[in-house]
Order: sequence, then C-alpha cells, then structure tokens
Amino acid sequence: MIKVKNLTKMYDKGKTVALNDVNLDIEDGEFVSIMGTSGSGKSTLLNMIGGLDVPDAGIVEVMGEDLSKINLSRYRRETVGFIFQLHNLIPNLTCLENVELPLFGSVKSFDMKNRALDLLEAVGLNSLANKYPNKLSGGQMQRVAVARALVNDPKVVLADEPTGQLDSENSELIMDLMQEKQEETNTTLCVVTHDFEIAKKAEKIIKIKDGQIESV
Ligand SMILES: Nc1ncnc2c1ncn2[C@@H]1O[C@H](COP(=O)(O)OP(=O)(O)O)[C@@H](O)[C@H]1O
Ligand SMILES: [Mg+2]
Repeated sequence: MIKVKNLTKMYDKGKTVALNDVNLDIEDGEFVSIMGTSGSGKSTLLNMIGGLDVPDAGIVEVMGEDLSKINLSRYRRETVGFIFQLHNLIPNLTCLENVELPLFGSVKSFDMKNRALDLLEAVGLNSLANKYPNKLSGGQMQRVAVARALVNDPKVVLADEPTGQLDSENSELIMDLMQEKQEETNTTLCVVTHDFEIAKKAEKIIKIKDGQIESV
C-alpha cells in the first residue's frame, strides 16, 4: 500500500538531516503507529507520505504510484485524510461546514450534506452540526477533525499526534473512533505519537530515531 524507498529529507541546506535513507512498507488496511522522540523525523515522514512535502532523495509509492509522478493536490484531496495535533478547524464555518469542506471539488459523488452528517453522527456529534468550533471542547473539536478527515472516504489516514492536546479519556475516545473506522472501511491508518499507550493499539509499531528506522 505504502512503500518508502531510500527516503532522505534535509533542511537548512543539508545541515539538518530529518530523514536518512528510510525504507518502510505499510500494508493495505494496516494500522501502524510511528514512535520516536521529538525531532526524530516523525512528522517529516508523515508529511512525505501525505504528499505535503517532497523528499530530497528516494521515493514514496502509494497504491503503486510514485508520488513524484502524480498530481499531489489531487492525491491529498482524494486519497488521504489528515488529522493533526491541533484540529485546524476553520473558526467561521460550522462543524457541518468544516466536515463538508473536503467534499468540494471531489470526484466522488457524495450527497455532501448527508455524507457530512453521517460522519458527524459516527463521531457522536450530529447534535452539534450547526455550532461553531469555539463552542466545542478540545475533545469535541478533535472528533470533528476526525469526521472531516474521513468524509472523503480516504484510502490512507495520517494522524500526527492526534491526541497530543487531549486528556487520557478523550485520547482513548479519539483513538477508538479512528480504529473503529479503520477496521470498518479497511483504510490504512498511520498514527504518530510519543505515547506508548496510544502506540500499542496499532498492529505494528515503527520506532524512528535520528531520522532512521530503529525497529518495526
Ligand atoms: N521546516 C523545517 N525547517 C527546518 N528544519 C525542520 C523543519 N521541519 C523539521 N525540521 C527539523 O527536522 C528534524 C525532524 O523534525 P520532525 O520531523 O518535525 O520531528 P518530529 O515530528 O519527530 O518531532 C528536526 O531536527 C527538526 O528540527
Ligand atoms: Mg512532529
């Protein structure tokens, strides 16, 4: 599903090697977690897989396609769902409108409003559909972000420290939601975390250190 080959990414004109010749295979429908200390290269790796940034060397293949050879904005829009540590909801759109957003311009023919409401229901928040994000708790906002990430039925879901700002109860809830959806829809789920309690829910833990895979 996801093949990373000899991936290298540098910053500051080569002074920082964020990823150093990384090789990795993630199976279709697999749930993996990526662990490592701060600065080890986790976000860089996830961003490369998500087509948010491009490598200096090596390739990322998703579903047999080399990301350097395809339209990345379309790939991000149609194949990937992103969840970040901060929910990144748009403050002047309602929860429903935030969840509908990835459906604009999608080739997948969803009835936008019903599809978005279904996802809000799946995260237990359909009653808050018309509320603005600032009326919600942190845990609720992150649940809306999960609904938004999944609304377009992505094949790959990438979450970068999705529970980093949440208490343990809300972290559990968010993880359970993501895992439930991953099993239901057979998506490939990659979760970056430095919390072992979160990481161990995955089928596989990928440990990264100083820009290299330490163990899988
Ligand atoms: N945009 C950037 N510009 C310069 N250096 C960066 C940038 N993004 C990340 N880095 C550096 O690359 C390394 C890996 O960072 P990152 O992938 O964010 O690690 P993690 O997510 O594991 O904390 C760190 O040394 C970080 O300082
Ligand atoms: Mg990071």
